[in-house]
Amino acid sequence: MSKLLHVAQGQTSWKDILVCEIQKKKELKALTPTVILCELEKVIISNPSILKHKVKNISLIKGKDDPNLLDTLIHTKSKEFKMLLKLTRERMRRTYGLFRARDSSELDEALSAYLKNPSVRNVQTLLGLHESTKERKPIYPTLYSDIFSSIVRLRGQEYKQGVRIVDLACGLNPISVSVAPLKVIKYVGYDINTKEIDVLNHFFSSRKKNSVQQWLAIVGDIRSCEIEKGDVAFCFKILDVIDRNSGHTRSETLLSRIPCRFVVASFATKTMSGKPMTAPKRRWMEWLCHRLGWAFEILEFENEIFYIIDKGPN
Ligand SMILES: C[S@@+](CC[C@H](N)C(=O)[O-])C[C@H]1O[C@@H](n2cnc3c(N)ncnc32)[C@H](O)[C@@H]1O
Repeated sequence: MSKLLHVAQGQTSWKDILVCEIQKKKELKALTPTVILCELEKVIISNPSILKHKVKNISLIKGKDDPNLLDTLIHTKSKEFKMLLKLTRERMRRTYGLFRARDSSELDEALSAYLKNPSVRNVQTLLGLHESTKERKPIYPTLYSDIFSSIVRLRGQEYKQGVRIVDLACGLNPISVSVAPLKVIKYVGYDINTKEIDVLNHFFSSRKKNSVQQWLAIVGDIRSCEIEKGDVAFCFKILDVIDRNSGHTRSETLLSRIPCRFVVASFATKTMSGKPMTAPKRRWMEWLCHRLGWAFEILEFENEIFYIIDKGPN
């Protein structure tokens, strides 16, 4: 985060209060202050008119000269505070809040039911608590064998010893991998949602006969955190989220820095309202692969399209 949202040690500022207000929404409760402040910063930068009565020059509010400037200008009763809270909350709901159970207690209940009785039914209940995994339930039975057939074709050989997977912005997807017929040496999942990461870690530490030899779920922002080296990275339904309204530079940066030869990137093929998209293929993804010399194959399902990308050895 830039100096714009510098927080002085030991003081409760309007930003702390804004973070608390945002965390009051059940579906946003598990997001960390760092993630919320990053979104607030984007709201301020893309809506300079909110502060224009206070600061004439946007470069000033970027805090280059005085990182505490905003603290002196905004207070929690002001209309600027209310507007920033509203816009940040809206932005966060669209980006982070729409995919999951409304109430995190539903996740606690489903997890404890699973811990008491690790049945397939209870695994299915857990998968049903995140929109992406819920929607993917009908295709999970063959999804990973389809993906890995494609990877093996591109690679020209099997992973005899097993595969190392990193799952970026994983949501609850790792639960589906744990019950898939895959030989996994190591699986590392990243997400900014602390609640889901916690559930994943409980889920996996409880699995006695675990097909995954080593398991880790980490709270991390995939735009900036260090990513574990692996063979295959899953980027399921996240590139559209991180690119939102800003071309595809962020996706390209992420895809390029992932330390895995293969990346499986998926995208929704239906709109939020459930209508089929007129152009479900992501042509930009295909152009990007051609430009960077990456081979790829495509897997298409009713609700989701998967690009299996081979960035080449090393
Ligand atoms: C559409 S869901 C996809 C979840 C999962 N990949 C799947 O397809 O089952 C997007 C997920 O990305 C996470 N997320 C959004 N931005 C993120 C970021 N910058 N770093 C890490 N996780 C992020 C959200 O918390 C959410 O779980």
